[in-house]
Amino acid sequence: MVLNADMQAAALNVLVWSAAALCAGRWPVERSARRGRARAMTLLALVGLGTLLVLMRITTVTLMGRESRLFAVDRIAVALPALAVPAVAVLVGTVPRLLAWARRPSLETRTAAFAPTAVVPLQITALGALVGLWTALFTILAPPLLRPALLIHSSVVLFAALAWFRQTRRWWAARSGPRTRASRPLRALRAVAVMTAVGVGGTALVNLAAASSRLPDDMSMNMGPGHAAGGHHGGGESAGAAGTTSVTSLTEPRDERPDRRYTLVAAERTVRLASGRTVRAWAFNGRTPGPTLRVRQGELVEITVKNRLPGENVSVHWHGVDVPNAEDGVPGVTQNAVRPGGTHVYRFRPEESGTHWYHSHQQTSVQQMKGLFGALIIDPPRPERVDHDWFLAMHSWETENDGDVTALNLADRLERRRAAPGSRVRLRLLNSDRLTHEFSLIGTSFRVTALDGNAVNGPTPVSGRKLAIGAGGRYDVEFVMPDRPVRLTEIQDFVGVRDQGLLISADGRGEVAPDLPSREFDPTAYGTPAPTPFGPGSRFTRTKTMVFDNEIGFYDGRFRITWTVNGRTFPDAPHLTVREGDLVRMRFANRSHFDHPMHLHGHHVLVLSRNGRPVTGSPVWLDTVNVRVGEVWEIAFRADNPGIWMDHCHIGDHAVLGMMMHLSYENVTTPYRVGRGTGNRTE
Ligand code: C2O
Ligand code: CU
Repeated sequence: MVLNADMQAAALNVLVWSAAALCAGRWPVERSARRGRARAMTLLALVGLGTLLVLMRITTVTLMGRESRLFAVDRIAVALPALAVPAVAVLVGTVPRLLAWARRPSLETRTAAFAPTAVVPLQITALGALVGLWTALFTILAPPLLRPALLIHSSVVLFAALAWFRQTRRWWAARSGPRTRASRPLRALRAVAVMTAVGVGGTALVNLAAASSRLPDDMSMNMGPGHAAGGHHGGGESAGAAGTTSVTSLTEPRDERPDRRYTLVAAERTVRLASGRTVRAWAFNGRTPGPTLRVRQGELVEITVKNRLPGENVSVHWHGVDVPNAEDGVPGVTQNAVRPGGTHVYRFRPEESGTHWYHSHQQTSVQQMKGLFGALIIDPPRPERVDHDWFLAMHSWETENDGDVTALNLADRLERRRAAPGSRVRLRLLNSDRLTHEFSLIGTSFRVTALDGNAVNGPTPVSGRKLAIGAGGRYDVEFVMPDRPVRLTEIQDFVGVRDQGLLISADGRGEVAPDLPSREFDPTAYGTPAPTPFGPGSRFTRTKTMVFDNEIGFYDGRFRITWTVNGRTFPDAPHLTVREGDLVRMRFANRSHFDHPMHLHGHHVLVLSRNGRPVTGSPVWLDTVNVRVGEVWEIAFRADNPGIWMDHCHIGDHAVLGMMMHLSYENVTTPYRVGRGTGNRTE
């Protein structure tokens, strides 16, 4: 809300101040005292309104800064001074002359209001307002702000000097008699020339911007995507050179006998939802969600992936499992995507347990949504017994006849299951979709026993709270079945409760009216504290701050709304280089209009604080941090898994439009390449 008000204030400032500047810049001619006064009054009204709008922008920026300094620093450094300083000059220089003119309208007072002291402040305020809007919409600034701020402010000063020079000449001319103008045809000719120049120049600029935003067809993620475009050919040669490690060597040992073997075959398949709607899906082993891979912590797992998709490459990422880098399934970074007809073998030995999942990481935004995903459940050495252990993926399917339909697994309408009273039920909820989903569980109190597969310490019973799970995230929820039905429902703000979800009862019958708990379950204030290997008081070797925004501009050749990190999009988005052993802190601040579930591959992150409040309950370990609109999170992790790792928003549509970064360890290089021309498409 504050951000929207801020944008509106920025836009209105541009409108009002440019109107005032244009009006004040008109050549002074005496028509009648009445019209002169009317004009002076209009100008005064515009200046009054503009002053209010300046105060409004100062207020909105202050409110943003009160949420977090991170939301306001760029505006405090650039937009506010660019607007407020000339606005003060307006009050000092322009307003007295306008008042005099309004009081005694005459050619003399009117010409006095044409002086540079009166006109230029209005022009510069209009320019400052434009700068303020531009830097909120098209070119978002992020720290370090010194250079852009100096550049912008000195350009404004230069512009003011030019405007002063021009206005001085006009003013002198106005005082020395009536205006001498060029002949009509000459003026028309001049106007046409100016318009043509602006048109041609503008088109050229737009084309240039579009062309330069095109992503390279072939680039390397070595040394960070920012330096990638000019990457050398045959990068494989450098891998293994003195002092560097190639990702290809960061594998699980190849010779040991695996404890468990799976084969996943990716192919096209028509899938029927519970209601009968059909989906042209891409599926592993003919179903989606794909087969549940259930392994035990510490076992050596070997998974053979075969690609039978029509003309599409594929790869598989083990989301939530800190595998060796080469097993991570990121095409163009840790492997080449598997071509149609091809095969790739993944091996890893999970050190963690819990509810994880796998999904394609080739064109993730398309392939995962089309169904190439499934559960990867890792049992701890001594698993807690439950009577019902159900995996439920919230997904939206593009159906053949009904558009987008959401479903829990394939149930797009209320599903009924049986559980005897007294039995223990565990729901493993996964959000494999591209929105945050909110769930309500009614008819029983429950415990949230794991977040992203990581056990919660000392979970206590909760009820009447909605569970908000970001894209890619998992919640394990457990309860003892009461002697009345229990209902799990997904809630959507605008749609409300739909006739969907899961109804559990002794005989599979019965009804529960769904409800909408307004309060949200807060994972950062739940359960019991426990010691952690590091925490808010630790000494961090690296700290990275990331502000998420929307920006309007060209991306990959098209004019779009993009998703930026510190004002930048992939491959220019901030890149983080670490050394093994580093203790890294990251700060996420979401100033955009959408949630961003940030997923760092290969590492578990510990939440330090959310919106400035430290974690009070159980330690919160996550692999996907759902930074909701207006939120600020602080997280930390130990750099203990060398490689080149993706760090991206798990909403595929955001990753495709810029929100994709990498974390690389010093001296690790990849021989693989990404881009349209390589067959490796990570997004
Ligand atoms: Cu689950 Cu990079 O993704
Ligand atoms: Cu996002």
